[in-house]
Amino acid sequence: MFEINNLSFSYEDKNIFEKANFSVEKGERICLLGENGAGKTTFLRILSGSLNAEMEIRFNNNRYNSIREIIDKIGYVPDKPHLYDFLTGKENIEFLLNIFNVNNKWEEIQELCRKFNLHNDLDDLVKNYSLGMKHKLYLICILVRDIDILLLDEPLSSLDIDSQKIALEKFKLFTDKGGIIIFSTHIESIEQNIASTKYKIVNKKLYKLN
Ligand SMILES: Nc1ncnc2c1ncn2[C@@H]1O[C@H](COP(=O)(O)OP(=O)(O)OP(=O)(O)O)[C@@H](O)[C@H]1O
Ligand SMILES: [Mg+2]
Repeated sequence: MFEINNLSFSYEDKNIFEKANFSVEKGERICLLGENGAGKTTFLRILSGSLNAEMEIRFNNNRYNSIREIIDKIGYVPDKPHLYDFLTGKENIEFLLNIFNVNNKWEEIQELCRKFNLHNDLDDLVKNYSLGMKHKLYLICILVRDIDILLLDEPLSSLDIDSQKIALEKFKLFTDKGGIIIFSTHIESIEQNIASTKYKIVNKKLYKLN
């Protein structure tokens, strides 16, 4: 169980959340809805520990003061993946795995690269990658981590149809094993395909939809 209560957050003078509450059970895939600028990306960045917010955190029956305390259990794929343009795909993978402290996963990585049709591009500089290729490379590095919560900002929007199917399979496998997925999307078919539960961000609060 992962629960956020009394979440308040502002960018300088712009208030985005005010005493918002959110809770999710193991195995759920939560779709975040809300109009442009509602705060979906901001919420995911708060949950990933990239932004500091005032809030109460409960995870697996423990209380935490900061996301930083459970950061090892959380993976985040941003809408614009942070990669180094002047490193190759393979070098970016090695760099990310090092940061995430992932060892002995090279075989799994290679298999994922083959599935996502990236295996022939790993020696190219990432500056020559398309947005979808960057997204897939970053996603692969997150999928091999040992995490409980996967945060995805508009996860499938840049992926081709075959890659979307592979990603969907991986997301379902992750939640079947008890993982939690929290993702944002504006695309109705993706929402229908992935979501087990929906939350909508309206007027600085999060509302669970039935
Ligand atoms: N770094 C920032 N500094 C100041 N304001 C910001 C910053 N990032 C986002 N905002 C503002 O916060 C609000 C929420 O933005 P956010 O990106 O979270 O929305 P979103 O729901 O993800 O929108 P979209 O559907 O367009 O992706 C917007 O009004 C935006 O202008
Ligand atoms: Mg966004």
